[in-house]
Amino acid sequence: MVQIEKLTGLMGAEITGFDITNGVTADMADFLRQALADYQMIALRDLHPTIKQQKELTEVFGPIMKLPYVEPMPEDDEVIAVLKEADECNKGVFGGDWHSDFSFLENPPAGSILSAIEVPQVGGDTVWASQVSAYTSLSEALKSVVDGRKAVHIGAPYGVTHQPPEEEQAGASIRMTRGDPAADREILHPAVIREPLSGRQALFLNPIYTTRFEDMSEEESAPILADIYKHCTRPDFSCRFRWRAGDVAIWDNRTCLHYATNDYDGTRRLLYRTTFSADPPAA
Ligand code: SIN
Repeated sequence: MVQIEKLTGLMGAEITGFDITNGVTADMADFLRQALADYQMIALRDLHPTIKQQKELTEVFGPIMKLPYVEPMPEDDEVIAVLKEADECNKGVFGGDWHSDFSFLENPPAGSILSAIEVPQVGGDTVWASQVSAYTSLSEALKSVVDGRKAVHIGAPYGVTHQPPEEEQAGASIRMTRGDPAADREILHPAVIREPLSGRQALFLNPIYTTRFEDMSEEESAPILADIYKHCTRPDFSCRFRWRAGDVAIWDNRTCLHYATNDYDGTRRLLYRTTFSADPPAA
């Protein structure tokens, strides 16, 4: 029997008893889409999908999207292996700061799916933070800054100007194209977006890729963004998921931020990631 249980008061739900061995029916797809709109992140325990099944699941939410700058799996260019080997110690980790996946694209992914293949017995959790709750509880002063305003996003880790220092870069197992000047191109998105299915508003800003507000310099924007990030990553709005091999997590990449914890040096961690698209984020 399919059961759904909230992970925290404000976001995230865990679903057990879900079985896609015989495909995803229209009713199952409706259930998943509604659950994602309601909880922003849903975790399907013990699903153990094949790559083909993971891709079918991805298409429930939108067309599969190929991402630039990260080398896909050799056997399937629509899937990325998020891998950290046991011997990659004292290194950064892919997704190891609060972010929205590839928000610097003109049309960033609407959502992402991770399927856990090999995970540490303890550690390597992923954390999400609801930007719907963050926006709802934002002070009126900060709302007056972000409402109706656009912000600039840049492919910081991949470009030339904003590349992270060596020690913060993820290990060699996840192959990224760095030093590409095209990633320094400024892309504008509304600072507050509306989630199409629920109609709820959410902050759409993140510390990895957002550099400034449209009509402000980086220096002027920095203290305001720092205040916003302090607020929007509060534990009150977040949920933390402890992986077991076979689990699958699906999240709305537009209405929540996520963070890969890096506390498992000496242990191998491998997840397969797919992403899906929708219309560009709108205010
Ligand atoms: C990601 O940012 O997509 C990776 C998250 C994780 O590895 O937990």
